[in-house]
Amino acid sequence: MRMTDLILKKREGDALSKGEIEFLVKGYVSGEIPPYQISSWLMAVYFRGMSFEETGFLTRAMIGSGKVFDLSSLAGPLVDKHSTGGVGDKVSLILAPLAAACGVQVPMMSGRALGHTGGTLDKLDSIPGYKSVISEDLFRQILAETGFAMTGQSQDVVPADRLMYALRDVTGTVESVPLITASIMSKKFAEGAQSLVFDVKCGAGAFMKTREAAEELAVSLVETGRSLDRKIVAVITAMDEPLGRKVGNFLEVEESLACLRGEGPADLMEITLRLTAWMVVAGGIRPTVEEALDLCRDRLADGSALERFLRNVTLQGGDRDLLLERENRARAAFSLDLTAGAEGFVESIDSYALGMAGIPLGVGRNKTEDAVEPLVGFELLKKRGEPVKMGEPLVRIWSEGEETGKTVRDMIASAYRIGGVKPDSGSLILKEIKAL
Ligand code: URA
Repeated sequence: MRMTDLILKKREGDALSKGEIEFLVKGYVSGEIPPYQISSWLMAVYFRGMSFEETGFLTRAMIGSGKVFDLSSLAGPLVDKHSTGGVGDKVSLILAPLAAACGVQVPMMSGRALGHTGGTLDKLDSIPGYKSVISEDLFRQILAETGFAMTGQSQDVVPADRLMYALRDVTGTVESVPLITASIMSKKFAEGAQSLVFDVKCGAGAFMKTREAAEELAVSLVETGRSLDRKIVAVITAMDEPLGRKVGNFLEVEESLACLRGEGPADLMEITLRLTAWMVVAGGIRPTVEEALDLCRDRLADGSALERFLRNVTLQGGDRDLLLERENRARAAFSLDLTAGAEGFVESIDSYALGMAGIPLGVGRNKTEDAVEPLVGFELLKKRGEPVKMGEPLVRIWSEGEETGKTVRDMIASAYRIGGVKPDSGSLILKEIKAL
């Protein structure tokens, strides 16, 4: 087999076979196929696309390029969730213990904040003592005991994705739906999940900006999963403003605790309950999403989801008592409010701009090696559709430096639009696509 022929085949729009895809992935990881040939194939894929079956072959070949987590000692069902990334998106912190309380096992491997989106690991690290990156043995042990465990992505998992993503990043081929599909799914399956629920976000602050683009990715994830005999649900959700009211590492842990007590904001709860319910259905615990939603609400009401979260905190080295003591108290050194310069309704909040405003504070980072701060961030006192009076506080900001706080206040001010018309509000769940 020659890589040149595979490039030509894809250039002409034909689908590669399972053997051809395996040859290409193996050859690239071993160094036998040079990056310039892989780049050329990536660009051909970008323009010609891939069939769902072919994307499934690529996913499988990528999984086989590295370590695969062995979770076969666990009773299961093993179901995980992946979000394409949002601002104020702390769903994982609520969904994992809630799904666990419903009988699902959630092997959750997450990432760190980058650019405008936050990272689950940074949020967990703001809990005193919490170890967000743990050994495989401890991960398996905690998963068996509490039904969910959290850790970072291991370097040995899917090396083909790391190599290929680095190449995509510099060759203009990141925005290819089949390549994104194989990249996301290979990591999740290598990490031990049997079934997956996706939150495909759509809107100005999301990776997929339009409804069409979000739907294309959702269909690709579901159909590629189907070709691999996996249960997949993709929920397309609106990301037209940040999720919930708090943005910041410890602030988001606090808001998650409120949700686990059944006191969370409506938008965050709607998305979290829906995604968790689909995990319960994908895991075969309830046959319909309505019955699964009832089970989720029961597990919130009886306190078992909150208890799972706190038990996980202890098992991952965190100080449960100190966490609860600091809740709603621990804050960065300086605080200041952004106030409304006009009267009316909050017409829109640019979540991308708000995510970017978190970077100078230390909520997130520009480069992977930058540090983040646990206690900085902001609380949205007014969200989309809410009435505001002139001079009323819109956002409370916490920063470690006074000047930074002022800079960020100006950045947030430009993200808010206040006008005379109350915007329509509806469900954040735009569409659901399933292979069950
Ligand atoms: N996230 C991933 O993990 N991979 C992609 O290709 C794009 C987003």
